[in-house]
Amino acid sequence: MEKLIVANWKLNPITFKEAKDLFGAVKKHAKVKNTQVVICPPFVYLPLLKGLSLGSQNISSEQKGAFTGEISALQLKDLNIEYVIIGHSERRKHFSETNETVNKKIKMALEAGLKVIFCIGENEGEEKNTILQNQITKGLADVLPAQMEQVVIAYEPVWAIGTGKNCSTEETKSAVESIKNTLISLYGSQIAENTRILYGGSVNSTNSAEYLKNGEVNGLLIGGASLKPDEFIAIVKSTE
Ligand code: PGA
Repeated sequence: MEKLIVANWKLNPITFKEAKDLFGAVKKHAKVKNTQVVICPPFVYLPLLKGLSLGSQNISSEQKGAFTGEISALQLKDLNIEYVIIGHSERRKHFSETNETVNKKIKMALEAGLKVIFCIGENEGEEKNTILQNQITKGLADVLPAQMEQVVIAYEPVWAIGTGKNCSTEETKSAVESIKNTLISLYGSQIAENTRILYGGSVNSTNSAEYLKNGEVNGLLIGGASLKPDEFIAIVKSTE
């Protein structure tokens, strides 16, 4: 299975010049066979960056019309954007996104022909299996088996995001198993096996290879380290 390395730039960088320089460095050096690199910059930079797969960090739960300030899945598709991150914990926390909002957005994205990077993960102290099962079941409600080819699941324990406290490969493996079990119950074992699962949360060039080797994941979702060109390029190269 092709590996997937996704850069989530979040609300960075502040100037287009910085965005262009970062993107240019990654485009030039982060090429590895059997690994797809996806850059998810802020919306404003999406139409200006060319030459690598792109994803947005969010979409509107509405398709079109009187929704001031929103961005539609159809508009992104029209700009040849390939992916969208949905359900990131920062959106759940700071913008009150619920499993129901996440589900609406996932269906909207899939109907528009975008691929979805569906983020799930427990908070510190929460019972992982229950949370993951609930987030997956509600987030994927009414998503058809045939649409699952376009869905990637990103396991991001909230306590590991931006903290430097990355999840052990043992714990990651157990989360992947739990995710697969839920997918089996919803879609059967074939789809569960074919669905790509990423890990995210304090990944850097020192720990990235370990996740791919021993964490049972098919790729990584990178926040902070994706803003440092050398670090991100080293992460992509570690998939070799
Ligand atoms: P981090 O963020 O790599 O900075 O921990 C990951 C994410 O939020 O997707």
